[in-house]
Amino acid sequence: MVILDISIQSRVIIGISAMLVLFTSFLIVFISNHRKKLQYHKNLQALHEEQEKHLKEQNALLEQKVKERTVELSLQTESLEKTLDELKASQSQLIQKEKMASLGELTAGIAHEIQNPLNFVLNFGELNTELINEMKSMISAETLPQKFNNEMNELINNFSGNQYKILHHGRRADGIVKNMLQHSRKHRGILELTDLNELTDEYLKLSYHGFRAKHKSFICDFETSYDGAVEKIRIIPQDIGHILVNLFQNSFYSMNDKIKLLQDKYEAKLFVSTEKKGNKAIITVKDNGVGIPENIMDKIFQPFFTTKPTGEATGLGLSLSYDIIKAHRGEMKAESKEGEYATFIMELNYQ
Ligand SMILES: Nc1ncnc2c1ncn2[C@@H]1O[C@H](COP(=O)(O)OP(=O)(O)OP(=O)(O)O)[C@@H](O)[C@H]1O
Ligand SMILES: [Mg+2]
Repeated sequence: MVILDISIQSRVIIGISAMLVLFTSFLIVFISNHRKKLQYHKNLQALHEEQEKHLKEQNALLEQKVKERTVELSLQTESLEKTLDELKASQSQLIQKEKMASLGELTAGIAHEIQNPLNFVLNFGELNTELINEMKSMISAETLPQKFNNEMNELINNFSGNQYKILHHGRRADGIVKNMLQHSRKHRGILELTDLNELTDEYLKLSYHGFRAKHKSFICDFETSYDGAVEKIRIIPQDIGHILVNLFQNSFYSMNDKIKLLQDKYEAKLFVSTEKKGNKAIITVKDNGVGIPENIMDKIFQPFFTTKPTGEATGLGLSLSYDIIKAHRGEMKAESKEGEYATFIMELNYQ
């Protein structure tokens, strides 16, 4: 038998070779498995990295979206706040308008009631003055004892002095009542196509001369800017003129007060301008006078509100202006910084 003939040496060689083949195949299998494992890990890591990258991108996207949304939300909040502020402002404006309307009616009502008894006071007062004069001439025609005559004359002079005061203050009251009654006057004049620039300039000059007639040392610098685009507008010129006069007089008064305070450290200056904006003609009057304190800002349009000394003003100027503007369906507002300036802005509509 051939097999049996194989020597032990060959058998050993065959055995070793078989073992080598076996070992090599094991090694190959092992290496290939290891490679597969390595590849698997690599793939896993790559997947992991891919997922991480994706996550990061998603995160960045989300963050961007959150940022955009926050900006959007804050913009919305801002616009809501603005709307709320505007609503509040128009609400207080409405309340103010209502207050003005009822104050105007009340004022007119009171004025009507007062005018009648006031007429009696004035008429009887004038009659008394005549009677006093008659009494005086009767007494001087008589020959009376000196002492009695002197005493009578003194009494009559006192009486006449008092009567003069009654008439003087009665006439002042009459002036106030007449001003009050202007509130109820619905139709002051007729609507006319008016050149607003001309009207403003004309009343500015008139007012300045009027004020300087009373306050001779008053000097004021002017800066005027009349917009050529302001077309003729349908208004009651006398009424708008009335407003302008009051605005200018108020400004001159305020600047004159500042002159008294600061003397040559101060130069009075008045800015007057007109402007056409859309459907509106706007007149602005700005002075660098004493300004309006914040705590009285909401009172200046009320009838009889004045900070001027008794006898110098009635406090009806702005309230009357407000009524006139309302009748023209326009707007009027004031802005000021106490001690620095006061600005009045009047807006009229083209129809
Ligand atoms: N340009 C201004 N500068 C400072 N204060 C002003 C100005 N305009 C108005 N005022 C304030 O508003 C108040 C009311 O003004 P308004 O014209 O109604 O009445 P008046 O001037 O006091 O009296 P009247 O106009 O009846 O003579 C003034 O007393 C003053 O306190
Ligand atoms: Mg006034």
